[in-house]
Amino acid sequence: MAKASLVVLISGSGSNLQAIIEAIKSGDLDAEIKAVISNKATAIGLERAGKANIDTYVIDHKHYPDRESFDRAMMQIIDPIEPDLVILAGFMRILSDVFIDHYMHRLINIHPSLLPKYKGLNTHQQAIDSHDSKHGASVHYVSHELDSGPIVIQAEVPVQDADTAETLAARVLKEEHLIYPMVIKMHTDGRLTYNKDQLNLDGQPLTEPLIWKDGQLTH
Ligand code: GRF
Repeated sequence: MAKASLVVLISGSGSNLQAIIEAIKSGDLDAEIKAVISNKATAIGLERAGKANIDTYVIDHKHYPDRESFDRAMMQIIDPIEPDLVILAGFMRILSDVFIDHYMHRLINIHPSLLPKYKGLNTHQQAIDSHDSKHGASVHYVSHELDSGPIVIQAEVPVQDADTAETLAARVLKEEHLIYPMVIKMHTDGRLTYNKDQLNLDGQPLTEPLIWKDGQLTH
């Protein structure tokens, strides 16, 4: 079977991109990242991609009059690749319906909260301000509404009394680096599918997210 082809969209540090690169290098993930696209020329993730000999593209959203024309410029790069999966990894732009419809069922995102809690930005501070005892990250297929769509895995971490948004973000990010490659592998191995509104894992409907906690995945 041909290797699964991936396209990764980033805006910043790209540590999740790095985790995917490492999972491929170690042989855990049988896939190839065909392109990394950033809307920011300064994204550190571009350097990470360059070091791994991955083709990189900068498409600056400021050069486009609206969301849709920016998204269409990305589609022009992505479509010839015919990717099995388009991966949002710290990509900080809201996508248009045109883009989402085009890649529906093969478009995934990682969000640093236990969705549906805290969509959008500043999730770690919100978890602290709400005195939550746990916080985490969610990997989900993308649907039309922001930070929505069926969730595959949620990583849970404890919120500690002394936590700042920074310490909590670091604890969550460590788990993100584990669960994102896991979900990508499930998809590229053909174990995980998203059809119509239904997630299936190993031929069974996945109606609740899998939980990643203390180094274990539970249902
Ligand atoms: C992560 O926290 C991710 O959940 C969110 O943006 C951050 C990206 O980090 N969507 P990085 O660029 O992968 O280091």
